[in-house]
Amino acid sequence: MASQTAPLSELLHQHRPGHGLRQPFYGDPEIFEADLQAIFYRDWLYAFPACMLGKSGSYQRLKVGAFDVIVLRDAKGEIRGFHNSCRHRGSILCSASKGNVAKLTCPYHQWTYDLDGRLIWARDMAADFDASKHGLKPVHCRELSGLVYICLVDEAPDFDAFAETVRPYLGVHDLSNAKVAHQSTIIEKGNWKLVWENNRECYHCAGNHPDLCLTYPEDPSITGVSPDGTFPEKVESHFNRLEAAGAPSRFKVGGDGQYRVARMPLLDGAQSYTVSGKIAVQKRLGHVPVLDAGALLLFHYPTTWNHFLTDHSITFRVTPIGPQETEVQTTWLVHKDAVEGVDYDLENLIRVWEHTNDEDRRVVEDNQQGINSPAYEPGPYSATHEDGVLQFVSWYLDRMRSAYTPIAQAAE
Ligand code: FES
Ligand SMILES: [Fe+2]
Repeated sequence: MASQTAPLSELLHQHRPGHGLRQPFYGDPEIFEADLQAIFYRDWLYAFPACMLGKSGSYQRLKVGAFDVIVLRDAKGEIRGFHNSCRHRGSILCSASKGNVAKLTCPYHQWTYDLDGRLIWARDMAADFDASKHGLKPVHCRELSGLVYICLVDEAPDFDAFAETVRPYLGVHDLSNAKVAHQSTIIEKGNWKLVWENNRECYHCAGNHPDLCLTYPEDPSITGVSPDGTFPEKVESHFNRLEAAGAPSRFKVGGDGQYRVARMPLLDGAQSYTVSGKIAVQKRLGHVPVLDAGALLLFHYPTTWNHFLTDHSITFRVTPIGPQETEVQTTWLVHKDAVEGVDYDLENLIRVWEHTNDEDRRVVEDNQQGINSPAYEPGPYSATHEDGVLQFVSWYLDRMRSAYTPIAQAAE
């Protein structure tokens, strides 16, 4: 990290306000590593919906940079995270991406751990070997209204402020009664920040997202971040109507801009992200009081944006794979009792966001390729349409400056 500091702090200093980042931020391997160290290895990261961990012993494996993590449901029903590294000689314990186990047994020499991480069996160790000192290393793990978050650093930053802000909004979506209807995992050949920048504006929507634009308003005054916190009358009345009906909706930003939650209207009359604009799932997930409640939009940097609708919910997880490679995992959640082919047609449910994701992948990859040209020069963002991008870039720069600005310079 120390060898990073000088050149990176200089680049951070050279940033031109209102403009895109300079080329190295989108591909330099050392800056990618600095992003991992300063952000992904320190912040709370969205993992997956809690319903993906069914009964006790059910686990999911995640990789974030150099870390390899197992998140499981223990015998008491608690969700726990562990580093996927045996306390004997370090082998991974779980090689599959998910599964179900009674205990965690290392495939190398069969050291065996209980689901709470305690080492319960290690063959032929010395008489003074203390098993209690060789439990699996824990990973911070929190469940927020059916969404699992993890944090890799030893001393995790506060999670409660985020949880307390967002929990009331999520309540009506009843994710504890959800099941996964479909999941897609795609790789976008672009830096993770380009994935986010693209997500944070709809300047590109009309030209790239024919299906999404059937229901999602591209008008930045409706979906964007307004600096003075005001919204057009129709959005204000939408908030008032939904809040009066018991569905928290009003726009809130927190954590120095790290997260935002708001229930925003869809285009007139639209109920859900379908080609017809009608709900996709008859057995609805949640109890939002009206069908035209719009979409509860939640983002939390650096790993997730979400759309919670009146009939189903969609979560997105962003994982950096390399300087110019990012995984985007999308999970469609429906009520656990909804039956495919009866309550919903899968193709109808997933079509809009399958197409939108693929269109976003293409624009991000095109963006990356153009940035890789020596001729690339950061251009100006549109203040009208790209407020969200400005907000993301400023959050990113603040994080990086506080992590990488030498102390002497910070004191100036
Ligand atoms: S490395 Fe796990 S038991 Fe030896
Ligand atoms: Fe898009």
